[in-house]
Amino acid sequence: MNPSQTPAWKDLSQLAEAWKTRHLREVFDKDPQRAQRYVADACGIQLDYSKHRVDADTLKALFALAEQTGVAERRAAMFAGEKINNTENRAVLHVALRNRSNTPIQVDGADVMPEVNAVLDRMFAFADKLRCGLWLGRTGKAITDVVNIGIGGSDLGPLMVCEALKPYGQDDLRMHFVSNVDGAQIQQVLKKVNPETTLFIIASKTFTTIETLTNAHSARAWFLASGAAEADIAKHFVAVSTNGAAVSKFGISTDNMFGFWDWVGGRYSLWSAIGLPIILSLGPDNFRALLEGAHEMDQHFLTAPAEKNLPLLMGLIGVWYGNFLGSPSTVIAPYNQNLHRLPAYLQQLDMESNGKGVRREGEKVEYGTGPIIWGEPGINGQHAYFQLLHQGTHLIPLDFILALDQPGIDPKHHAILIASCFAQAAALMRGKTPDEVRAEFAKAGVAADKAEPLVPHKTFSGNRPSSMLLLDKLDPKHVGALIALYEHKVFVQGAVWGINSYDQWGVELGKQLATGIETALKGGGGELNYDASTQRLIALVRSRQQF
Ligand code: F6P
Repeated sequence: MNPSQTPAWKDLSQLAEAWKTRHLREVFDKDPQRAQRYVADACGIQLDYSKHRVDADTLKALFALAEQTGVAERRAAMFAGEKINNTENRAVLHVALRNRSNTPIQVDGADVMPEVNAVLDRMFAFADKLRCGLWLGRTGKAITDVVNIGIGGSDLGPLMVCEALKPYGQDDLRMHFVSNVDGAQIQQVLKKVNPETTLFIIASKTFTTIETLTNAHSARAWFLASGAAEADIAKHFVAVSTNGAAVSKFGISTDNMFGFWDWVGGRYSLWSAIGLPIILSLGPDNFRALLEGAHEMDQHFLTAPAEKNLPLLMGLIGVWYGNFLGSPSTVIAPYNQNLHRLPAYLQQLDMESNGKGVRREGEKVEYGTGPIIWGEPGINGQHAYFQLLHQGTHLIPLDFILALDQPGIDPKHHAILIASCFAQAAALMRGKTPDEVRAEFAKAGVAADKAEPLVPHKTFSGNRPSSMLLLDKLDPKHVGALIALYEHKVFVQGAVWGINSYDQWGVELGKQLATGIETALKGGGGELNYDASTQRLIALVRSRQQF
């Protein structure tokens, strides 16, 4: 299905023309109920989308687009375990990992829920033992530090959640994450930990990822160099993977492995055994709550009517900006500091999923697909990148994300945080007219001849859209719901564009080339296989360094 051939696409193109001359400030002035109307709540999360360039006609056409591109049918197919990842012939069932109602979900005629529950139970038992000091290291001491070695989906999800929910963590169990293969990151962590009291989690879906395996080998060598024997590895190394053979080859017994399945995409895997660092840090009960929050959002996505359906609304509004209003980028601006890794996590989730240029059947798309996702905690962004959002030449919608409660909240700080967040959204939407600037100058007693040259610089065009996502609380349940919300938003967009959101062939070419270039850097030949620029870079490094 080519979405650009649908009647709704044509309607939306026409509606977009009208929005070229409309300002959100006037839209609010004309419609006193707007602030109440464009709000939807689910799972303790409120989405206020009133500051978007949408109205009843736009929404109607967007819902028609979802209908005409078969979003509901694709959603049903995903939840039913159909192999919607067509290029890898795989089901896409992260929803099964948090299926707390435990209804059967079939893949190839077998219910996956018993296996899902069995791995969860093993992880919970392991975590209980380790957290209460009964899992002992080789010298009989309890574990004090956990080092997760992984990259991409095997790093970002657990890291982001452990940070987001830090106040729920166990104080005497420190978490560390190593992803970069630069050697410095692992060394810095190893300097801080004691081999007698450290547990390494080697997390890799494929267990072939060079960065992860290189770091894992370095950790293993460091551990053995501390006087430990090969037999002690079982007390200090566990693996999380779908590849038992490679785990054994590395030297970790599959008794110490927590498995998952090919129907769990790397960037959708924090709910699986990849979430082990979360379980160790926060404990089984909090992990269950995280799963429950996500499951509630899954049910909401499946059952809520379009105009109240958060993932559908967010997905369609994103399509509206990307395909009709010329805005290919979205900023993620969380205001609570503990959500500081959320933008990086969502960057992988969204851009690895929907950064595709062909439809499911292989035809080239002739419309924009996945948005460019970027961001940083909003309060810091205000003093950095927000200038461009307010007065730059690009139209870039934002997702403001704010939890209204969090453990250890200090009302004095929190009031400033909330005020800043709301102020930015208001300023972006309303802007400031030249006359308002002049009136400010006049009030401050600045003479007109001094004021006038500054008027264009102090004018804000406004009409810059944003979503406001308010979480009742920064706790496991709401964080679970928030992540699932974004997963389904990505799903909706992929379904509208008719692309496969669940493969990632685009990361393969660079990986292939890296292997050959590494050989060339080591003097193994093959440097002439590359373009002139790469050959020059290889020669430069070889002239300076021996590997
Ligand atoms: O290179 C991209 C990627 O395959 C991601 O999709 C994945 O999350 C990451 O690498 C890590 O892969 P693995 O868990 O197999 O080590």
